[in-house]
Amino acid sequence: MKLLLPVITLGLLALTGCSDKGSPAGAGPGSQAASKAPEATTIKIGEFGSMTGSEATFGQSTHNGILLALEEVNAAGGVNGKKVELKSYDDQGKSQEAGTVVTRLITEDKVVAILGEVASSLSLAGGRVAQQYGIPMISPSSTNPQVTAIGDMIFRVCFIDPYQGYVVAKFARENLKFSKVAVLYDQGQAYSKGLKDDFIKAFTEMGGTVTVEQSYTGGDQDFSAQLTTIKGTSPEAVFLPGYYTEAGNISLQAKKLGLIATMLGGDGWDSSKLAEIAGDAIEGAYYSNHYAAEDTRPEVQEFVKKYQAKYGSVPDGLAALGYDAARLLFDAMRRAPSLAGKDLAAAIASTKDFPAVTGVISIDAERNATKPAVVLQMKGGKPVYAATVEPRK
Ligand code: PHE
Repeated sequence: MKLLLPVITLGLLALTGCSDKGSPAGAGPGSQAASKAPEATTIKIGEFGSMTGSEATFGQSTHNGILLALEEVNAAGGVNGKKVELKSYDDQGKSQEAGTVVTRLITEDKVVAILGEVASSLSLAGGRVAQQYGIPMISPSSTNPQVTAIGDMIFRVCFIDPYQGYVVAKFARENLKFSKVAVLYDQGQAYSKGLKDDFIKAFTEMGGTVTVEQSYTGGDQDFSAQLTTIKGTSPEAVFLPGYYTEAGNISLQAKKLGLIATMLGGDGWDSSKLAEIAGDAIEGAYYSNHYAAEDTRPEVQEFVKKYQAKYGSVPDGLAALGYDAARLLFDAMRRAPSLAGKDLAAAIASTKDFPAVTGVISIDAERNATKPAVVLQMKGGKPVYAATVEPRK
């Protein structure tokens, strides 16, 4: 039996491939991809992420988390007796590429569901395609509210930015007792623009003042003009709701300019590269995130142990969210009456109290998850747990 299986698998896959190529009426927008395909012996899922480019660790860490979950589910016999197969594409951190690879996953690879992206702008680009084809997509980590607002096929397993902005504001105002904060954000990223607004709203509602708002565009190298303006307003802190490459460079340049203020960030800082780029300029800075590796919940400790054994490093939040998104998808697949888009989406939508690494996940009516956030502090070049902020009731 063991020997026969691979042969049968190959035969069926080959057949599927032929009939697809021969039929001009393949899956298109609105049709249920794969619903008419002959019964396959594996379940194909897709992943798109930035494996290269200035957000490369986002894609790489997420991929590591997904692979660990995949290995585990297949070692345990797969989903409903079928092995799960993963097809991954690098979108290079580019919106257009994200759209292209999601189209490829659906029309060529015929995946039943998609995991990705990390960056909200890329989830927006890929998500529109997935929605159009009726294929469920779960973003592990995109926090901009617009992502799941695309439609009924698009889900996420993380909290959203109105909450994250509140978390950073509350921590800055109540724990650090700051009243004057400057903001420097990436005008090219939906995540950064949204989180900036959410932070400002929450911080000013708490009685804080935003001394000045400055912007940059991802890829910029020189931030001295913005930082000089910011320095002139003497803030106690600078909020940088961007990704790690620029956050690292900005912190470095701020220090060189003699801007003495505490750097604050959101989950976009979550990369081992942050400290590599910024060195000691990032010491003492705080950022909000989805999990802390020191959390004593058994789900966290078990995951950290397995991840370290496989990859030799402490998993970041993205790895944890990738792992959670994949496992939540497998759970929904087991419960779904079929793997057709509508059935699978309905099963994902009905997820309740799923015990994930990054918290207990229930998918709400907006296809989001409500979970606590943590605040981490950079100490000795590493993020260290500082506080937990519970969701607003
Ligand atoms: N939340 C970010 C976004 O939406 C992505 C991110 C999540 C980055 C978690 C790092 C860690 O763009």
